[in-house]
Amino acid sequence: MSIALGLIGGTGLYAFPGLEHTTRVEIDTPYGAPSGAYVCGEIDGQRVAFLARHGESHTVAPHRVNYRANVHGFRQLGCKTVIGINAVGGIRYDMGPRVVVVPDQIIDYTHGRASSFSDMPDTKVEHIDFTYPYTPQLRTRLLAAAKQAGVEVIDGGCYGATQGPRLETVAEIARMRRDGCDLVGMTGMPEAVLARELGLDYACLALIANWAAGCGDEGEISIEEIYAHLAAATAQVPPVIRALLAMNRG
Ligand code: HPA
Repeated sequence: MSIALGLIGGTGLYAFPGLEHTTRVEIDTPYGAPSGAYVCGEIDGQRVAFLARHGESHTVAPHRVNYRANVHGFRQLGCKTVIGINAVGGIRYDMGPRVVVVPDQIIDYTHGRASSFSDMPDTKVEHIDFTYPYTPQLRTRLLAAAKQAGVEVIDGGCYGATQGPRLETVAEIARMRRDGCDLVGMTGMPEAVLARELGLDYACLALIANWAAGCGDEGEISIEEIYAHLAAATAQVPPVIRALLAMNRG
């Protein structure tokens, strides 16, 4: 049975609740090793593959993730649709802790990451359209699934991808706000562009863990609070994914 959906879990999501009858699939890719084994199983009778982006024990930092291997591994599994689940900081006034967002745009501030499959020696360079970085039809389905599941999500927002692993300064976030970023995270790129290069459908579920630097009332950001907010936001993900899979069936 082919895999209906790939899931990439971010910080705070190292195994997917409700994924049953699982097998661990180790994949070697032309780009090296992914972050860990793909956990392939079933949700409500549909095949799903889950990968923990930072490894199951959170040992792979955002700038060290082998995004190419991770994305290529899904393709090797025969998976055509992938949802990236990402912890983020909120910049926009209505994007505070525990809010869930399906972003529609990206600004990439990362550097030094292998961000294309098109840079191997002697391979033809492919330029791709990236006007709408997330697959519009998949975003629409994800939003409809959230509605169906009764989970409140914000439709749209610009994800600013930073290098990490440190959080940002107040001045950096102020600049990102001026640039038009609504959210800030460390892993949204190059994952999205690599999925596009391989022709996969890809969308992002962004889980807000904290106000970005200088956006809340509290001064410095508490790492403990990040994890508490993230746990609350993460709990909203499985019903959305279940509803998305049910729409596939229907
Ligand atoms: N900045 C960048 N990445 C993040 C943040 C943040 O404030 N919170 C969670 N991931």
